[in-house]
Amino acid sequence: MATRTWTKYPYFEEETSADVVIARMGTDIDPRLRQVMTAAITHLHAFVKEVRPNHKEWLAAIQFLTRTGHMSTDWRQEYILLSDTLGVTMLVDAINNSHGDGATENTILGPFYVENPPHYPNGTNICLDGKGEPLVVRGRVLDTDGNPIAGATIDAWQTNEDGFYDVQQKGVQPEMNLRGIFTTDADGRYWFRTVKPRFYPIPDDGPVGQLLAAMGRGPNRAAHIHFKVKAPGLEEVITHVFPPDCPYLETDAVFGVKETLIGDFRHVDDAAEAARLGFTNPYWALDWDFTLARAK
Ligand code: BEZ
Ligand code: FE
Repeated sequence: MATRTWTKYPYFEEETSADVVIARMGTDIDPRLRQVMTAAITHLHAFVKEVRPNHKEWLAAIQFLTRTGHMSTDWRQEYILLSDTLGVTMLVDAINNSHGDGATENTILGPFYVENPPHYPNGTNICLDGKGEPLVVRGRVLDTDGNPIAGATIDAWQTNEDGFYDVQQKGVQPEMNLRGIFTTDADGRYWFRTVKPRFYPIPDDGPVGQLLAAMGRGPNRAAHIHFKVKAPGLEEVITHVFPPDCPYLETDAVFGVKETLIGDFRHVDDAAEAARLGFTNPYWALDWDFTLARAK
């Protein structure tokens, strides 16, 4: 009879299932990997024990994940969409960006950020397709002590009036429609012209859209303008500003809305000022400051 070495959890049993799997990890492995995999195995086994799926249900779960992988390409990341719609992206962000120091709050980056958009002088109109209700955005970049920051960059992007980003409609929208980088002046001020953002659905023609529908949830994101704001020596902020009249503020598909990010979009009826801005009257105006924390 062969001699056997003693191990604490040699054979699989439902009661000790997670311990059995965890005990198989080697002794000489990365400690962070051990910590992460121990937690993942523990929670996954607890989940399965709570849900008690039958074989058909477990196969359906695996097929869902398979479809999610097949749907993903360089420009369509269905797993990120899954993380976004289950609130995990915002949770990771909350864990890593709990400023509590008066800095502008972060929110989700989203998949439609484009590197190297055009740099424009202040006042430029980034709406290149002429659709939508005109909006002027004006404000300052400050540090958490209230000092204006000169030379900060404000990278803005948003959908057009039809609810699509330029990269979703190549050949339909002008390239770099509704994107641009502005730089603050000596008083920390920036301004640009655009259109009032509107709500739009996240890409919902894949497995994540099917899951949302099955859960009785809608695909719409609350209307927003995205911003990435940075300045030397200060923490970068990736954020949005939301108009207060959007009907999807409380049901945003990716949980990206924070109360502090709802802006005061004013509907302005001033023909002379509209003409000066090159806008039709009435138009929208938003005053919006960004506050950045000192870099750690
Ligand atoms: C966005 O705001 O662009 C976005 C965020 C998460 C998922 C899809 C879109
Ligand atoms: Fe967006």
